Amino acid sequence: MTVRGRFITFEGTEGVGKSTQITNAAETLKELGIDCIVTREPGGTPMAEAIREVLLAPRDEPVNDLTELLLMFAARAQHLHTLILPALEKGRWVLCDRFTDATFAYQGGGRGVPIERIALLETLVQGEIRPDHVVLLDAPVETGMMRARHRGQLDRFEQEAISFFQRIRDTYLARAGAEPSRYNIVEAAGSIEQVSTHVRELMCKFGSDLL
Ligand code: TMP
Repeated sequence: MTVRGRFITFEGTEGVGKSTQITNAAETLKELGIDCIVTREPGGTPMAEAIREVLLAPRDEPVNDLTELLLMFAARAQHLHTLILPALEKGRWVLCDRFTDATFAYQGGGRGVPIERIALLETLVQGEIRPDHVVLLDAPVETGMMRARHRGQLDRFEQEAISFFQRIRDTYLARAGAEPSRYNIVEAAGSIEQVSTHVRELMCKFGSDLL
């Protein structure tokens, strides 16, 4: 029987260095001989990536909060059931750039969608499936926004006010505080070397649980 792979998600506000750290995490796991894939949300499959484009494009039409929420979960259903679960069942580890914690943080904390609505869709789409480990890259929102602004044109989310991202950061930290065994907070405002070392240590710890 193949042992199910581990499902690890990376979360944080804009510009905290998730992409760099996911690459670093994947390299560390490969060095440990662990087979892993890297994917992201919204997106990860051709159809879910098409939904991502719809979600991120700046537009003049006001976007209803429920429309945004349902599209996030539509993309997630496709991604989870056609890519993530089959990989986990084959014993591969899955490193995912954002997952449902982002929905609680952005749509819940940021937009003010009631948590119960999000929890309802979480159960509908995921059943009992939750990430085994969540790596929360945490930095003051101003630091991250400066980095995001240097990357070029801002998407529909990046165009939001600082207060929106402050609520998102607070929601992430509250969720991490409520379940410390599953959430790992990485101080992301420090040097890239410090952050990378912390992430590498976490991957070694998760990997050593296998021994
Ligand atoms: P990214 O910039 O990290 O690739 O993520 C795309 C944007 O989508 C980012 O601003 C966060 C947002 N997002 C949500 O609002 N809810 C979600 O559930 C997910 C996965 C992402």
